Amino acid sequence: MTIRVFEDTEQLASAAAEAILDTVKANPYSLLCFATGNSPVRTYQLLTENAFRENIDFTRCRCIGLDEWVQVPRTNSGTCYHLLREQLFIPLGIKESQILLFDGMAQDLEQECSKMNSFIQAQSGVDCIVVGIGTNGHIGFNEPGVDMNLQAHVQDLHESTVKAGAHYFSQPTVISRGITLGMTQVLGARKLLLLANGKSKAAILRASLQGIPTRKVPASFIQQADHAMVLIDKEAASELYQ
Ligand code: GLP
Repeated sequence: MTIRVFEDTEQLASAAAEAILDTVKANPYSLLCFATGNSPVRTYQLLTENAFRENIDFTRCRCIGLDEWVQVPRTNSGTCYHLLREQLFIPLGIKESQILLFDGMAQDLEQECSKMNSFIQAQSGVDCIVVGIGTNGHIGFNEPGVDMNLQAHVQDLHESTVKAGAHYFSQPTVISRGITLGMTQVLGARKLLLLANGKSKAAILRASLQGIPTRKVPASFIQQADHAMVLIDKEAASELYQ
């Protein structure tokens, strides 16, 4: 694991966007996995701007989503489906045929998980994954206590995740479960970018990056991923030991 601390969100986002672009430049057929949330918003804007400026071809890559709320229709502007389309896929000109996102409204969620697992396997794994971190140490919807060996699965959400999640919705929306890639898939990605900014992430970053790895803090296993890049701003890094 490499930790890089930036002066501000802008510099952080610029480095993250460059790392994603480097993946596509090196292999135009890359499988890319994206989280939603506040942390990667500026990264996605810069990725789009830089891809156009540098004329990077995204037409051959494949894209998947890290997670999705269960039982929230895709028409809801707080879904990962909606956000990824608006923030990334439409601006980058990525076609439907290149994308696989979890359908949180699917009747058979197990099948939805199998579909995602098979897709990842068929592409020989994820080339670059962008993730955030919850204040309880979750990645995607891998909540504290999760089985680290799981692949895609459905997870009951912790109270803190439900509370934090409410901010993503502009209309009252009931959220209680999520569908997510498993930690084995997150940590198994060939390039892993964990993005976090702001004081609210400082304590959980200390536990995740400097505490003993434990299932109680799923993100703490990132310490064992040599290839992981943790990109954080000064505020998020403010509680790390020197
Ligand atoms: C959410 C999502 C994650 C996201 C994380 C952090 O609950 N399930 O995919 O990365 O929490 O979100 P934010 O970046 O808004 O702090």
